[in-house]
Amino acid sequence: MGRSDSSRRWLQRQAQDTYVQRAQQAGYRSRAAYKLLQLQEKDRFLRPGQTIVDLGAAPGGWLQVAAKIIGTSGTLIGLDQLPIDPIPGATLIQGDFHTAETMQQLTAALAGQSLDLVISDMAPNISGVSAVDQPRAMYLCELALDFCQQHLAPGGSMVIKLFQGEGFDALLQATRSCFRQIKLRKPDASRARSRELYLVAKDYYV
Ligand SMILES: C[S@@+](CC[C@H](N)C(=O)[O-])C[C@H]1O[C@@H](n2cnc3c(N)ncnc32)[C@H](O)[C@@H]1O
Repeated sequence: MGRSDSSRRWLQRQAQDTYVQRAQQAGYRSRAAYKLLQLQEKDRFLRPGQTIVDLGAAPGGWLQVAAKIIGTSGTLIGLDQLPIDPIPGATLIQGDFHTAETMQQLTAALAGQSLDLVISDMAPNISGVSAVDQPRAMYLCELALDFCQQHLAPGGSMVIKLFQGEGFDALLQATRSCFRQIKLRKPDASRARSRELYLVAKDYYV
């Protein structure tokens, strides 16, 4: 299958996707905004005044949702390897989450504040070879969990995207060892054919 065939199919799917249309009408930068809204509707992890880091935040749909809910008294930091257009009230960092340099930038932006919530929609570029893609995706989840263990305040929450497959159970187990409440969610806005799920972990303990 040629690259142009798959691009054409992607464009067709986007045009037919009701969440793409709703996002455009509502002014969200991505249809992913609806995944966060649906997760929030169920699990209520976003609250006014929180300090939040959003990992893998481009183009910024989740940041738009989070900024609105936490309000001007909250602190919002978004990170992505891609550039993100400005979001009022958010500090944006461009960098690869794998690198020590990016971690230093994030730590500097936090200026010693502990986090109430870490959200991550990070997903690596898909090669189509699951033996390559799955470990890459799960490694990003492990890094996100490590980041939580360094920066979350006791009682804090983590919401991350993960993919069913190798490494999934181990990540759940590691999450259970430091959060008291764990839920797995598949929001309606997450495409049925995608192996992605969202892990909502609450009440972090050390
Ligand atoms: C599904 S998109 C996120 C969509 C976003 N939540 C929104 O609402 O607009 C996944 C993002 O993860 C980012 N990403 C993947 N690997 C990354 C890495 N190693 N460091 C930083 N960002 C990464 C990609 O660049 C991409 O923008």
